[in-house]
Amino acid sequence: MSLTETLKRQIEAWNEELKDTPPEQVIEYFHEYFGKRIAFSTSLGAEDQVLTHMVVETGIPARIFTLDTGRLFPETYELIALTNARYKINIEVLFPDYKQVEKMVAEKGINLFYDSVENRKLCCRIRKVEPLKRAFKNLDAWICGLRKDQSVLRFFSKLVEWDEKNGLIKINPLINWNEKQVWEYIRRHDVPYNMLHDKGYPSIGCEPCTRAVEPGEDSRAGRWWWEEGGHRECGLHKK
Ligand code: ADX
Ligand code: SF4
Repeated sequence: MSLTETLKRQIEAWNEELKDTPPEQVIEYFHEYFGKRIAFSTSLGAEDQVLTHMVVETGIPARIFTLDTGRLFPETYELIALTNARYKINIEVLFPDYKQVEKMVAEKGINLFYDSVENRKLCCRIRKVEPLKRAFKNLDAWICGLRKDQSVLRFFSKLVEWDEKNGLIKINPLINWNEKQVWEYIRRHDVPYNMLHDKGYPSIGCEPCTRAVEPGEDSRAGRWWWEEGGHRECGLHKK
Protein backbone atom coordinates (compact mmCIF):
# COMPACT_ATOMS: atom_id res chain seq x y z
CA MET A 1 0.00 0.00 0.00
CA SER A 2 1.23 3.53 -0.60
CA LEU A 3 0.22 6.85 0.82
CA THR A 4 -1.72 8.70 -1.87
CA GLU A 5 -3.22 12.17 -1.45
CA THR A 6 -6.66 10.55 -1.21
CA LEU A 7 -5.56 8.23 1.57
CA LYS A 8 -3.89 11.11 3.40
CA ARG A 9 -7.17 13.02 3.34
CA GLN A 10 -9.09 9.92 4.38
CA ILE A 11 -6.83 9.48 7.43
CA GLU A 12 -7.32 13.13 8.39
CA ALA A 13 -11.08 12.74 8.00
CA TRP A 14 -11.12 9.59 10.17
CA ASN A 15 -9.18 11.37 12.90
CA GLU A 16 -11.68 14.19 12.88
CA GLU A 17 -14.82 12.04 12.62
CA LEU A 18 -13.80 9.43 15.18
CA LYS A 19 -12.01 11.61 17.71
CA ASP A 20 -14.73 11.20 20.36
CA THR A 21 -15.81 7.68 19.41
CA PRO A 22 -15.39 5.04 22.13
CA PRO A 23 -12.61 2.51 21.37
CA GLU A 24 -15.06 -0.40 21.03
CA GLN A 25 -16.83 1.41 18.20
CA VAL A 26 -13.52 2.38 16.58
CA ILE A 27 -12.58 -1.31 16.54
CA GLU A 28 -15.95 -2.24 15.03
CA TYR A 29 -15.79 0.53 12.46
CA PHE A 30 -12.39 -0.48 11.13
CA HIS A 31 -13.13 -4.19 11.12
CA GLU A 32 -16.17 -3.45 9.05
CA TYR A 33 -14.16 -1.20 6.76
CA PHE A 34 -11.11 -3.43 6.24
CA GLY A 35 -12.65 -6.90 6.70
CA LYS A 36 -9.92 -9.54 6.60
CA ARG A 37 -7.27 -6.94 5.82
CA ILE A 38 -6.93 -5.75 9.41
CA ALA A 39 -5.39 -7.48 12.44
CA PHE A 40 -4.70 -6.69 16.09
CA SER A 41 -1.15 -7.03 17.34
CA THR A 42 -0.96 -7.82 21.05
CA SER A 43 2.03 -7.85 23.39
CA LEU A 44 -0.30 -9.01 26.20
CA GLY A 45 0.43 -5.74 28.02
CA ALA A 46 -2.36 -4.03 30.02
CA GLU A 47 -3.58 -1.90 27.08
CA ASP A 48 -3.58 -4.89 24.76
CA GLN A 49 -5.57 -6.98 27.23
CA VAL A 50 -8.20 -4.22 27.24
CA LEU A 51 -8.26 -4.32 23.44
CA THR A 52 -8.52 -8.11 23.37
CA HIS A 53 -11.52 -7.90 25.70
CA MET A 54 -13.11 -5.26 23.48
CA VAL A 55 -12.43 -7.19 20.27
CA VAL A 56 -13.97 -10.35 21.72
CA GLU A 57 -16.97 -8.38 23.04
CA THR A 58 -17.71 -7.00 19.57
CA GLY A 59 -18.14 -10.58 18.39
CA ILE A 60 -16.03 -9.94 15.30
CA PRO A 61 -13.87 -12.95 14.40
CA ALA A 62 -10.82 -10.69 14.33
CA ARG A 63 -7.29 -11.85 13.70
CA ILE A 64 -5.16 -11.40 16.86
CA PHE A 65 -1.46 -12.13 16.77
CA THR A 66 1.58 -11.78 19.02
CA LEU A 67 5.30 -11.85 18.36
CA ASP A 68 7.13 -14.42 20.46
CA THR A 69 10.72 -13.24 20.49
CA GLY A 70 11.82 -16.36 22.36
CA ARG A 71 12.91 -14.14 25.27
CA LEU A 72 9.56 -13.29 26.87
CA PHE A 73 8.82 -13.62 30.59
CA PRO A 74 7.29 -16.92 31.80
CA GLU A 75 4.40 -14.75 33.09
CA THR A 76 3.71 -13.58 29.53
CA TYR A 77 3.51 -17.14 28.21
CA GLU A 78 1.14 -17.99 31.03
CA LEU A 79 -0.99 -15.01 30.12
CA ILE A 80 -1.22 -16.09 26.47
CA ALA A 81 -2.61 -19.43 27.63
CA LEU A 82 -4.94 -17.84 30.17
CA THR A 83 -6.26 -15.28 27.68
CA ASN A 84 -6.94 -17.97 25.08
CA ALA A 85 -8.83 -20.05 27.63
CA ARG A 86 -10.80 -17.14 29.08
CA TYR A 87 -11.94 -15.75 25.73
CA LYS A 88 -12.02 -19.01 23.76
CA ILE A 89 -9.64 -17.59 21.19
CA ASN A 90 -6.37 -18.74 19.74
CA ILE A 91 -3.88 -15.89 19.57
CA GLU A 92 -1.66 -16.46 16.56
CA VAL A 93 1.99 -16.68 17.67
CA LEU A 94 4.67 -15.55 15.24
CA PHE A 95 8.26 -16.62 15.70
CA PRO A 96 11.48 -15.17 14.32
CA ASP A 97 13.39 -16.89 11.54
CA TYR A 98 15.53 -19.49 13.32
CA LYS A 99 18.38 -19.20 10.83
CA GLN A 100 18.72 -15.49 11.46
CA VAL A 101 18.55 -16.00 15.24
CA GLU A 102 21.17 -18.77 15.15
CA LYS A 103 23.53 -16.70 13.01
CA MET A 104 23.12 -13.66 15.27
CA VAL A 105 23.72 -15.64 18.46
CA ALA A 106 26.72 -17.49 16.95
CA GLU A 107 28.33 -14.23 15.86
CA LYS A 108 27.40 -11.89 18.72
CA GLY A 109 26.50 -14.01 21.74
CA ILE A 110 23.27 -14.99 23.45
CA ASN A 111 22.93 -11.71 25.38
CA LEU A 112 24.32 -9.47 22.65
CA PHE A 113 21.88 -6.63 23.43
CA TYR A 114 23.85 -5.52 26.51
CA ASP A 115 27.00 -4.93 24.46
CA SER A 116 25.86 -2.07 22.21
CA VAL A 117 22.81 -0.20 20.94
CA GLU A 118 23.63 -1.58 17.51
CA ASN A 119 23.43 -5.17 18.82
CA ARG A 120 20.22 -4.41 20.66
CA LYS A 121 18.63 -3.03 17.52
CA LEU A 122 19.81 -6.04 15.54
CA CYS A 123 18.18 -8.38 18.06
CA CYS A 124 14.92 -6.38 18.03
CA ARG A 125 14.97 -6.36 14.24
CA ILE A 126 15.44 -10.12 13.93
CA ARG A 127 13.17 -11.14 16.80
CA LYS A 128 10.37 -8.56 16.40
CA VAL A 129 10.46 -6.30 13.39
CA GLU A 130 11.01 -8.97 10.71
CA PRO A 131 8.26 -11.29 12.04
CA LEU A 132 5.95 -8.28 12.23
CA LYS A 133 6.60 -7.57 8.56
CA ARG A 134 5.59 -11.15 7.83
CA ALA A 135 2.34 -10.58 9.71
CA PHE A 136 1.62 -7.60 7.49
CA LYS A 137 1.37 -9.67 4.33
CA ASN A 138 -2.20 -9.24 3.06
CA LEU A 139 -2.96 -6.48 5.57
CA ASP A 140 -3.94 -2.86 4.98
CA ALA A 141 -4.19 -1.90 8.64
CA TRP A 142 -3.08 -2.98 12.09
CA ILE A 143 -4.50 -2.22 15.49
CA CYS A 144 -2.20 -1.68 18.43
CA GLY A 145 -2.28 -0.44 22.00
CA LEU A 146 -0.29 2.80 21.91
CA ARG A 147 -1.29 5.62 24.25
CA LYS A 148 -0.16 9.23 24.05
CA ASP A 149 1.01 9.43 27.65
CA GLN A 150 3.29 6.40 27.40
CA SER A 151 6.16 8.58 26.20
CA VAL A 152 7.06 11.92 24.65
CA LEU A 153 7.45 10.30 21.23
CA ARG A 154 4.06 8.62 21.50
CA PHE A 155 2.45 11.88 22.51
CA PHE A 156 2.49 12.80 18.81
CA SER A 157 0.76 9.60 17.72
CA LYS A 158 -2.81 9.76 16.47
CA LEU A 159 -5.88 7.55 16.51
CA VAL A 160 -5.31 6.74 12.84
CA GLU A 161 -1.89 7.19 11.30
CA TRP A 162 0.10 6.21 8.29
CA ASP A 163 2.78 3.69 9.26
CA GLU A 164 5.54 4.89 6.98
CA LYS A 165 7.95 2.15 7.89
CA ASN A 166 5.60 -0.72 7.09
CA GLY A 167 3.43 0.86 4.42
CA LEU A 168 0.03 0.40 6.03
CA ILE A 169 -2.45 2.15 8.32
CA LYS A 170 -1.99 1.98 12.08
CA ILE A 171 -4.97 2.34 14.40
CA ASN A 172 -4.55 3.13 18.09
CA PRO A 173 -8.04 2.90 19.67
CA LEU A 174 -6.72 3.71 23.18
CA ILE A 175 -4.57 6.63 22.05
CA ASN A 176 -6.29 9.13 24.36
CA TRP A 177 -6.73 6.87 27.36
CA ASN A 178 -4.66 7.37 30.48
CA GLU A 179 -3.27 4.64 32.69
CA LYS A 180 -6.10 5.04 35.20
CA GLN A 181 -8.72 4.36 32.53
CA VAL A 182 -6.87 1.23 31.44
CA TRP A 183 -6.80 -0.16 34.97
CA GLU A 184 -10.39 0.82 35.72
CA TYR A 185 -11.46 -1.08 32.63
CA ILE A 186 -9.38 -4.12 33.60
CA ARG A 187 -10.89 -4.22 37.11
CA ARG A 188 -14.45 -3.53 35.95
CA HIS A 189 -14.41 -6.33 33.39
CA ASP A 190 -12.12 -8.67 35.30
CA VAL A 191 -9.71 -8.76 32.36
CA PRO A 192 -6.76 -11.13 32.87
CA TYR A 193 -3.45 -9.27 33.08
CA ASN A 194 0.25 -9.94 33.49
CA MET A 195 1.13 -10.51 37.15
CA LEU A 196 4.32 -8.50 36.62
CA HIS A 197 2.21 -5.32 36.50
CA ASP A 198 1.63 -5.82 40.24
CA LYS A 199 5.37 -6.08 40.82
CA GLY A 200 6.40 -2.70 39.44
CA TYR A 201 6.49 -3.44 35.70
CA PRO A 202 4.23 -0.90 33.92
CA SER A 203 5.64 -1.77 30.48
CA ILE A 204 6.61 -5.36 29.70
CA GLY A 205 8.76 -6.53 26.81
CA CYS A 206 11.44 -9.21 26.67
CA GLU A 207 12.71 -10.56 29.98
CA PRO A 208 16.40 -9.58 29.66
CA CYS A 209 15.46 -6.08 28.48
CA THR A 210 12.75 -5.15 30.99
CA ARG A 211 13.00 -4.41 34.66
CA ALA A 212 10.73 -2.98 37.35
CA VAL A 213 10.59 0.81 37.83
CA GLU A 214 10.63 2.80 41.05
CA PRO A 215 7.45 4.65 42.06
CA GLY A 216 7.32 7.95 40.18
CA GLU A 217 9.76 6.79 37.49
CA ASP A 218 8.75 7.03 33.82
CA SER A 219 6.63 4.04 32.78
CA ARG A 220 9.10 3.08 30.04
CA ALA A 221 12.19 3.57 32.20
CA GLY A 222 12.45 -0.17 32.77
CA ARG A 223 12.76 -0.96 29.05
CA TRP A 224 16.39 -1.27 27.83
CA TRP A 225 17.24 0.48 31.11
CA TRP A 226 21.01 0.27 30.58
CA GLU A 227 20.88 2.49 27.46
CA GLU A 228 21.73 6.10 28.21
CA GLY A 229 19.24 8.68 26.87
CA GLY A 230 17.77 6.22 24.37
CA HIS A 231 14.24 6.78 23.11
CA ARG A 232 13.22 3.34 24.44
CA GLU A 233 11.64 2.07 21.27
CA CYS A 234 12.47 -1.22 19.61
CA GLY A 235 11.65 -0.43 16.02
CA LEU A 236 8.05 -1.68 16.02
CA HIS A 237 6.81 1.89 16.30
CA LYS A 238 9.78 4.17 15.68
CA LYS A 239 13.14 3.59 14.01
S1 ADX B 1 7.51 -1.71 22.21
O1 ADX B 1 7.74 -1.18 20.87
O2 ADX B 1 8.09 -0.90 23.27
O3 ADX B 1 7.83 -3.13 22.33
P1 ADX B 1 5.06 -1.65 23.65
O4 ADX B 1 5.47 -2.78 24.52
O5 ADX B 1 4.96 -0.30 24.27
O6 ADX B 1 5.96 -1.58 22.35
O7 ADX B 1 3.72 -1.98 22.93
C1 ADX B 1 3.05 -1.07 22.07
C2 ADX B 1 2.19 -1.84 21.09
O8 ADX B 1 3.03 -2.52 20.16
C3 ADX B 1 1.36 -2.90 21.75
O9 ADX B 1 0.14 -2.36 22.20
C4 ADX B 1 1.19 -3.91 20.62
O10 ADX B 1 0.14 -3.52 19.78
C5 ADX B 1 2.50 -3.80 19.86
N1 ADX B 1 3.48 -4.81 20.34
C6 ADX B 1 4.54 -4.61 21.15
N2 ADX B 1 5.20 -5.77 21.39
C7 ADX B 1 4.52 -6.73 20.72
C8 ADX B 1 4.66 -8.14 20.56
N3 ADX B 1 5.65 -8.82 21.16
N4 ADX B 1 3.77 -8.79 19.79
C9 ADX B 1 2.78 -8.13 19.16
N5 ADX B 1 2.58 -6.81 19.27
C10 ADX B 1 3.43 -6.11 20.03
FE1 SF4 C 1 16.16 -8.82 21.78
FE2 SF4 C 1 15.80 -7.39 23.98
FE3 SF4 C 1 14.80 -6.56 21.64
FE4 SF4 C 1 13.76 -8.65 22.94
S1 SF4 C 1 13.76 -6.49 23.58
S2 SF4 C 1 14.15 -8.54 20.78
S3 SF4 C 1 15.65 -9.62 23.76
S4 SF4 C 1 16.97 -6.78 22.22
